[in-house]
Amino acid sequence: MHTTTNHKTKIKISDRAKNCSGSAIANLREEVGALLSQGIRILDLSSGDFDPRIEYPGFKQRLHETVDSDYQKYPHKQGILELRANIRDLLIKEGFTGLTIDDICITNGGIQALFNIAFILPDSAVIIPTPFWGPAYTHNRAFNKLILHTHLDKNHQLDLDHIDRLLSHNDSSAVYVNTPHNPTGSVFSRKSLEELVTIAAKHDTPLIYDEAYHGLVYDDEVNFSPSEFLDLRNSFLVRSFSKSHSLSGYRLGYVVSRNREYMRYLSEIQLNATSGVNSPTQKALAHIDLEGGIPKVREHYKRKRDILMGLNKVNGFNIDRAPKGAIYLWTQVDIPHGLTIHERDTYGFNLLKSLEVPVIGVPGYHFAPPDCKLYSNYIRLTFSIVPPEELQQVVDMASKKFGLKSNQ
Ligand SMILES: Cc1ncc(COP(=O)(O)O)c(C=O)c1O
Repeated sequence: MHTTTNHKTKIKISDRAKNCSGSAIANLREEVGALLSQGIRILDLSSGDFDPRIEYPGFKQRLHETVDSDYQKYPHKQGILELRANIRDLLIKEGFTGLTIDDICITNGGIQALFNIAFILPDSAVIIPTPFWGPAYTHNRAFNKLILHTHLDKNHQLDLDHIDRLLSHNDSSAVYVNTPHNPTGSVFSRKSLEELVTIAAKHDTPLIYDEAYHGLVYDDEVNFSPSEFLDLRNSFLVRSFSKSHSLSGYRLGYVVSRNREYMRYLSEIQLNATSGVNSPTQKALAHIDLEGGIPKVREHYKRKRDILMGLNKVNGFNIDRAPKGAIYLWTQVDIPHGLTIHERDTYGFNLLKSLEVPVIGVPGYHFAPPDCKLYSNYIRLTFSIVPPEELQQVVDMASKKFGLKSNQ
């Protein structure tokens, strides 16, 4: 006869893993799930996913062909040659020089490219502008890097003097910059990015240029390519097919660097952690036009951005800057005096949730380190997922409930 001893094992978890946890969006998913399970209709403007009504031309058909041809062997650790060649050709057309397919590593979305970069860089300080997309912070925390914050200014642009000072006083392993920017929708000016490149080079610090929203820029004045100033010999360019190609679930992104040493270690991580990204989806993308379908996606999102901008006319909502890129509206919400910190952090969220059909956004404090209280009065609303008529409904419900500003 078996006896079972109720032996309690003390589970030990590394600080690395503990530091690499917690996702605001995932927590919100639970909140959304709870509302849905009660049969409550909601408008979910929290997730950064693409519009399910958009299909990138050619991809599905190629994927079917790939599956039918039983193409599914282990891929090259850096990605299948044809896809890297397709990406290289695109980058060269865009103006990047001296690139070969060896300078490209396909990853499981842009997120893995960023994780791998955090993995290979030394554990010294990393400069991350706030507000930021959470994983850029958690990855670096996981590797115990000191995170030095610099805040975007009131125009949502980089504070270059501050970055220069931080680099002067710290042993830094990287400067992270994301443009078009999540959550503000800002696109940093060409001039400031050029200067950032110069500053980083002066301090011999690599730049991590996160362009996950590449192609989703709505204003001509800020529509330029980083090939005009980014030196890929000492920096990383990260891109993704999740947003511009509406392929988030296929998990495809890539990192480009002409630095052989960086690429060697990035591809080793890729090999050791994953044996490469799944080959059928790579193959499906390898022979399609990677840019021809983007203008339509961009036009679609631009129209939706313009609809949601209607919130700026509503009492209590102030959008400092219309988003020039990405898929988010970053709006300030007037907060009454005398609230506790928690009440301030969740005020805007609850306000939108209180509408006739509850609207779910992401509270601003999720885009900053825990001790930063700069963004309590902000909320991020995604305009990609829900259809235009539902975005209009958000604006109409808010106008009805809170009234229009007197100058409207
Ligand atoms: C700023 C930023 N970088 C990178 C990513 C990574 O996206 P993915 O892993 O889907 O390519 C995201 C996704 O939301 C993002 O917002």
